Amino acid sequence: MDMLDKLQELEKEALKTVKKAKSYDELEQAESRYIGRNGILNSIMGEIGALPAEQRREVGKRANQIKKTISSLISQKAAEFSSSESSTAPAGERIDVTARLTSKPRGSIHPISQVQAEMEQIFLSMGFDIVDGPHIESEFYNFEALNIPEDHPAREHQDTFWLTCGLLLRTHTSSVQVRTYKTSTPPFAVVIPGRIFRYEAVDASHENTFNQIEGFIVDTDISVANLIAVLKRVVREIFKKDIKVRLRPGYFPFVEPGYEMDFECLLCRGKGCSVCSRTGWVEFLGCGMIHPNVLKFGNIDPEKYTGFAFGLGLDRLTMMLYKIDDIRIFQGCDLRNLRQFSSPSLL
Ligand code: PHE
Repeated sequence: MDMLDKLQELEKEALKTVKKAKSYDELEQAESRYIGRNGILNSIMGEIGALPAEQRREVGKRANQIKKTISSLISQKAAEFSSSESSTAPAGERIDVTARLTSKPRGSIHPISQVQAEMEQIFLSMGFDIVDGPHIESEFYNFEALNIPEDHPAREHQDTFWLTCGLLLRTHTSSVQVRTYKTSTPPFAVVIPGRIFRYEAVDASHENTFNQIEGFIVDTDISVANLIAVLKRVVREIFKKDIKVRLRPGYFPFVEPGYEMDFECLLCRGKGCSVCSRTGWVEFLGCGMIHPNVLKFGNIDPEKYTGFAFGLGLDRLTMMLYKIDDIRIFQGCDLRNLRQFSSPSLL
């Protein structure tokens, strides 16, 4: 049999095999068997040198033709497989690296959640545990156990969303204080991040739904010095630089003495803007030494133990960190606003 006959045979057999192929695997096998580097076509062509010069051209031409025919049938079959539902090829086996990617919308973590996660890391690194509490709360834990009896004027400070049966939407994360005291034995250090609700008129710096982190340490000999040391460290870690803070006396029935801590408004650098109500300062947190009555409600002996507590506003903090000048974007549903906050550090 001369070379042209051999080529003819090869073509016939290869086309038959390719036509019968039922998977990418079979196509690949056929490709390498017939026209691959160590395939039959090349081994036939290895004999071309033995031919007289005038036949070489003809055989070479025929070999090229056959290679083209086989490989185009293979591509055609591969295309059929990829467009057919009944393809038996494992998904993704053939990847067209030149194909254009259609861009998929990418989500991002809500800015409040990002800051909350960062704060949790800071507190964890300082030895605090993280605890959760219910949004729907009893009057007892939200008010009474915090030394705010029914006729106490402090209840008016916090406009409340009342539900039925004496239940309410918690107005602060302090509602989890006595819940935690009851189930813990000192010493303990706990933070409680979470959503809170107040019946407030909404504007650029007020929301009816926002977020706090409550924190407390109870042990023997806890003092205001410990409170200040912890808060200073938290502020330095979250802002990653020293920023101006001020501590001033503040009244909360569940702490004595009580304080409020403000930081310099980073949006206007202390000049005064809508976010800081033109004062140059942003209220950051309320804090103080836990009132003995509150410890008693939590079955902790105030003669033996002392503690401090603080509650900080996550929304204002996030606004400062990301230079956001309107609190309403957090609860608003405009994804264009939220998409601006990609979160590489947390992913
Ligand atoms: N619960 C207070 C508020 O929401 C903050 C606070 C927490 C104050 C703990 C003192 C101690 O404003």
